[in-house]
Amino acid sequence: MTAAPPVTVRVPAKVNLQLAVGPPRPDGYHDLVTVFHAVSLFDEVTVSPADRTTVQVTGEGADAVPRGSANLAVKAVTALERALRPRGRGKLAAAVSIRKRIPVAAGLAGGSADAAAALLACNELWRAGLSVAELSDIAAGLGSDVPFALAGGTAIGQGRGELLTTALVAGTYHWVLAFAAGALATPEVYAACDRLRAGRGTSSGAARRVPEPAPSTALMAALRSGDAAAVGPLLANDLQPAAVSLMPELRRTLTAGREHGALGAIVSGSGPTCAFLAADARAARELAVSLTGAGVCRSVAATSGPAPGAAITASQGPA
Ligand code: C5P
Repeated sequence: MTAAPPVTVRVPAKVNLQLAVGPPRPDGYHDLVTVFHAVSLFDEVTVSPADRTTVQVTGEGADAVPRGSANLAVKAVTALERALRPRGRGKLAAAVSIRKRIPVAAGLAGGSADAAAALLACNELWRAGLSVAELSDIAAGLGSDVPFALAGGTAIGQGRGELLTTALVAGTYHWVLAFAAGALATPEVYAACDRLRAGRGTSSGAARRVPEPAPSTALMAALRSGDAAAVGPLLANDLQPAAVSLMPELRRTLTAGREHGALGAIVSGSGPTCAFLAADARAARELAVSLTGAGVCRSVAATSGPAPGAAITASQGPA
């Protein structure tokens, strides 16, 4: 039998248009309501037949990506292999090659994207035939953002982010992403959020109750209308004060974007990437140039959303 051909999957980054964070749960996570939005900044993951699972990483921030069993894409390969064990398929492994364009630890769910891509790619490589719903169940066990990276588009996330409902969105939105010089670890940003909230007592000295997170009906209506000018002021992220407290220079980045005409300015997820909404593709290009000139970030990328979720781009047979 000839070896199966390599499979390549392209997978998008995400920004959060709303991120409402509840109080910490006993398991350490936070219940949240978020609006995930996939943008056209893609990693590419290729899997090939192998006797044992390995990973190699190239591209943007490759040095910061863990190798071996700590790599989320490797965890995805292992999780899928484990799920398939009852089918008696024998030993399943893959050589994983990740080409990174999504910066690491940037609030763009790059690691989650690679895990989603690896799941989809190995499902194809091993001819496993799992449905998207079955892959999504495995994805939820790997990380809160992994199911969304499979789905793409725009979706409301609940629970810890893994419970998805597709959102109705009209039109295309143009985003400038401003990448920071450093990285932020997601658990540290959530912990800083809890600390800031604990310190923000009421006048009687009692800790203020954190409200249950709820979807913004105004934002959902604006997204349905396709009107970027209406969406911009409704972008909201409960983790933003925490991200800014850990990396105060983000305040300058956000201000610069607003001053150069962004319709909305927000820290993406747990940061430190800032996302700026522009009126159209041309305004996004101009904003990208202005932000570069202002020297308020490491680099910028003009992108658009909603972008499709993880998708197979190539599965080459032998030449
Ligand atoms: O699920 P994931 O591994 O991506 O989450 C990384 C970390 O982010 C968690 O260990 C937790 O500290 C924090 N987190 C959280 N609440 C969420 C999602 C993530 O506290 N809903």
